[in-house]
Amino acid sequence: MGLPLPLARHLVEPPADAIDRDALDACFLGPYGENDALLEKLVVEFLRDHVYWRRNFHPEDPPAIPTRAAQRPGYQAFEARMRRELHALSAALKKSVPFHSPRYIGHMASDLLLPGLAAQLLTLPYNPNNVSEDAAPVTVEMEVRAGLQLARMLGYPDDTTRADCAFGHLASGGTLANYQALRLALALKAFPVALRAAQVPGIALPEDDWAAFNAGPARGIALLDAWQQWLAAQPTAAARRDWRARVQAQRLETLGLVEFFARHPTLQPPCVLAPATAHYSWSKGMKLLGLGRAQLELLPEHAMRMDADALDATLERCARERVPVLLVVGVLGTTEYGTVDPVDRIVAARERMQAQGLGFGVHVDAAWGGYLATLFRNADGSLRPRDEMRMHYARFPTPEVHAAFAALGDTDSVTVDPHKLGYLPYGAGAFVCRDHRAMALLAEEADYVFDGTGAEDYLARYRRLGQFIPEGSKSGAAAAAVFVTHQVLPLDHAHFGQLPKQTVLAAEAFHARAQRFALEHADLVHACVPFAPDSNLVCLALNPAGNSEVATANAFVRRLHEALRCEPQRPLQVKEFFGSMTTLRPHALAADERTRILAQLRLPADAFDADHDRLVILRHTLMNPYLIDRENGISYIERHFEYLAGLVRGMAA
Ligand SMILES: Cc1ncc(COP(=O)(O)O)c(C=O)c1O
Repeated sequence: MGLPLPLARHLVEPPADAIDRDALDACFLGPYGENDALLEKLVVEFLRDHVYWRRNFHPEDPPAIPTRAAQRPGYQAFEARMRRELHALSAALKKSVPFHSPRYIGHMASDLLLPGLAAQLLTLPYNPNNVSEDAAPVTVEMEVRAGLQLARMLGYPDDTTRADCAFGHLASGGTLANYQALRLALALKAFPVALRAAQVPGIALPEDDWAAFNAGPARGIALLDAWQQWLAAQPTAAARRDWRARVQAQRLETLGLVEFFARHPTLQPPCVLAPATAHYSWSKGMKLLGLGRAQLELLPEHAMRMDADALDATLERCARERVPVLLVVGVLGTTEYGTVDPVDRIVAARERMQAQGLGFGVHVDAAWGGYLATLFRNADGSLRPRDEMRMHYARFPTPEVHAAFAALGDTDSVTVDPHKLGYLPYGAGAFVCRDHRAMALLAEEADYVFDGTGAEDYLARYRRLGQFIPEGSKSGAAAAAVFVTHQVLPLDHAHFGQLPKQTVLAAEAFHARAQRFALEHADLVHACVPFAPDSNLVCLALNPAGNSEVATANAFVRRLHEALRCEPQRPLQVKEFFGSMTTLRPHALAADERTRILAQLRLPADAFDADHDRLVILRHTLMNPYLIDRENGISYIERHFEYLAGLVRGMAA
């Protein structure tokens, strides 16, 4: 079943015109709730619309709730109880974190895009369950289409008539999308081994278990394809069933890790290589899959970007010692610094090591930075040259950052979170893989949910989404929010890209202002931005003048953070600004960086010891679209630094 025609036409014809500043003013509810009338109009209109839909379903059915029910005491008592609790909730929610305000520069959250918020509210009463089209005839297809929109943004093939078209789906967040990356990579790595063990004839199989386990994603998918074709060509249904069962019996997913590796003694559980900046979801994922945290090897970095030379050396060692590698994970927008790993170098390493017989997949954790890819895309999907982009910014994108984004299309899978830089409500992460054919390995054939009728086209297959995703039931409203937002703001630089452009410019302004702050207040405090930002997160390290102890510097920054953090027991309004903090761990830094940062803070080179092994620093996420309020000529960045200077002066007095 397809979507109704008007929507389908809409799908292939995103608006061609670029959005201007006026349009940006309509994007959000706004710090002051400026667009309240617009949101209210939409909510009321679509709530009424929903009610008419109910009434017009079978208008001959009379109302089941009597018209006079509202006058009855029990009804009124219930309403009163409900109102009381809702008022209590509404009052309690006033203590929420003011993500919408340009005074909030703490974590990865900001105002919500109106198209997404309205789409979510509009969809909620229909309550679609995106486990399958049976429960969500409209929003499942939207989810699959949203996956294709993201695929195009990343440079993956998005033409569903292509055999190797990409596929993406939503998940509760980046954590779950990262699990899915591990799950898919493991299934694909182990599948050629199962094919060999089942002794499938007529397919050119790798010569031994090591070669099969290292076939790499491209050959793994080719083998899967060859196997499916071979199976389809078997003369009888019974033969097909038997062969499928034989291969199934050898798969890692059937045997479990213990039995699989016992049967293949030349192999051992593979490791995952990720930078030291990797989000802790990777550690969780390794535990969840039973691979074990010990198999997650964190690579050293330089300036909070993965050290590609260290990656090369580690891969050479893995090849020499015959340690299989499941995935190399690059981070596009690290959680703490917004820095970007050299994805191009990781992809090059995959090609080089494949030629040496060590196959692995490349996954990019772009949970945070994924939507920055819109800045690099033209409406036709082509990549923008760096020179054209450079003219808008002071520093962005560096050649390394441009090369990293340009290489995204050559990776195997990506995590990207609409509920972060996509400015959408929580419950919307996304996993996207470059070649959808691999997803067949994750299919869970639950016959009671799916009718399991053989081969079909792309959309028909993924309308049975529950087969492929880690969750079961899940929100169709979240999918509607993502899809509608991408329709209103197509994922290229002229549309959606206008939002990340503002945030990158804000981060550049913040970085420059931080440097000025350091100069202006050098008599009171030594301050530095430890790593030049690649995107829109900027950290600030501080040490009170004259101090040479890490413990004292940390106590100083913690006191600053006290003033900047959310305290549920105190009214929000007493807070001027909201920031976050993190720690800089010296063992995660290259020696020259440690020396540089300590020197900038005027801390001695041996300042760290066993008791004081990290430096507490302030962290700022510059994603609010109104940090620079042109209407009123206010820079909240300027105000933030004035406030910080006041705090520092107060603490020095
Ligand atoms: C790089 C990165 N990956 C994954 C995640 C996890 O995302 P979520 O909190 O949506 O599960 C985060 C969250 O901040 C992140 O920054």
